[in-house]
Amino acid sequence: MRRVALVLIVAGLGLAARPVVMRAARAVQAADAEAHKTWMNDATDLQEDIRDAMRAKDGAKVAEAATKIEALMAKTEDYWTAKKAADIVKLAQTARTHARELAASARAAKFDQSAEAFGKLNTTCNTCHDLHPEKR
Ligand code: HEC
Repeated sequence: MRRVALVLIVAGLGLAARPVVMRAARAVQAADAEAHKTWMNDATDLQEDIRDAMRAKDGAKVAEAATKIEALMAKTEDYWTAKKAADIVKLAQTARTHARELAASARAAKFDQSAEAFGKLNTTCNTCHDLHPEKR
């Protein structure tokens, strides 16, 4: 008899706790989505920095900004890994690869290669946006 009461109490607590847990999970997701937007806006600012630095043929500055974009795309990759969106994860990895190529070629003052890598990076931004992963 006592055991039955205990089971009922535990079950009751579980039911009561569930909406709280679900609300908390949604709040975490919303915070993550906000962070994701911040990374994206930071990436756009860095894209501008790269454009300016490319015009000025300042390889060190290009490399610095490209390395920061690479780090932002690493966070993006983790974000979509957690959401199990394999195709989006792959695009984040592609963006990281092009950002690394951009950094390396700019550091070596190979600006033709840098321009090519930058173009591929920007295309990857757009390819991912066209898929609208945020609607999944
Ligand atoms: C792997 C996928 C992916 C890649 C690669 C990617 N983005 Fe995004 N980006 C997104 C998603 C998803 C959104 C929509 C986020 C939302 O609305 O919650 C977004 C939104 C944005 C936004 C709008 C942010 C806002 O405040 O609503 C900007 C700006 C942006 N991205 C810039 C970039 C730039 C620049 C790059 C490349 C350097 C890039 N993104 C690469 C997935 C990606």
